[in-house]
Amino acid sequence: MTVPVIAIDGPTASGKGTVASRVAQALGFHYLDSGALYRLVALAALEAGVEADNVQELVRLARGLAPRFEAGRVWQDGRDLTLAIRREEVGRMASRIAVHAALRAELLRLQRAFRRPPGLVAEGRDMGTVVFPDAKLKVFLTASDEVRAARRYQQLIEQGFTANICDLLADLRARDERDMNRPVAPLKPAEDAYRLDSSALTIDEVVRCVLDRYRGEHTP
Ligand code: C5P
Repeated sequence: MTVPVIAIDGPTASGKGTVASRVAQALGFHYLDSGALYRLVALAALEAGVEADNVQELVRLARGLAPRFEAGRVWQDGRDLTLAIRREEVGRMASRIAVHAALRAELLRLQRAFRRPPGLVAEGRDMGTVVFPDAKLKVFLTASDEVRAARRYQQLIEQGFTANICDLLADLRARDERDMNRPVAPLKPAEDAYRLDSSALTIDEVVRCVLDRYRGEHTP
């Protein structure tokens, strides 16, 4: 029997992360934050002084990844990188390196290895279109630019970072632009995706929508 997957894709700061981990928790499923993998490669590249266009080195760094995701924390080589990978600089680098087909191909195997019984909730940009095209449910989660900038601002402040909301707005628009217009695995809804705009919804409401949809369609 194939292991069911719920794919949740959408632009930066659309709330995918929180929604996906809450849905996974409610169903007792595993959870994959695919963006964290791109961010781990980005951080390793920044630390090693590898440029965003050095595909060969980036692929080598990706091959060396053996991250552990535990209780909301991300470990790599015995280091807790949970906060380090959330830095804006790392997110920007992640989006720049994510354009390379060879790097994306290298990360495919790692992402698919998260598919284990009883099920997986995977979030990112291409979960429903490329990584898990046979997902049982595909959700494309959006929110207005302003709402997303405000959410990102709140998140950074809570994590103890300083932030400027106008810079965040400009940055997320630039990142969307790059994610939507790259030739390989661009950010776009899968044809059979359930589209949900969370601008005026609470996290609880979005989680409920996704769970209702999944249970309505996939439980006897
Ligand atoms: O989701 P998050 O903001 O953590 O992702 C960081 C960057 O990694 C994104 O801006 C995107 O360019 C890239 N990414 C991707 N495909 C994914 C997940 C993330 O290209 N499945």
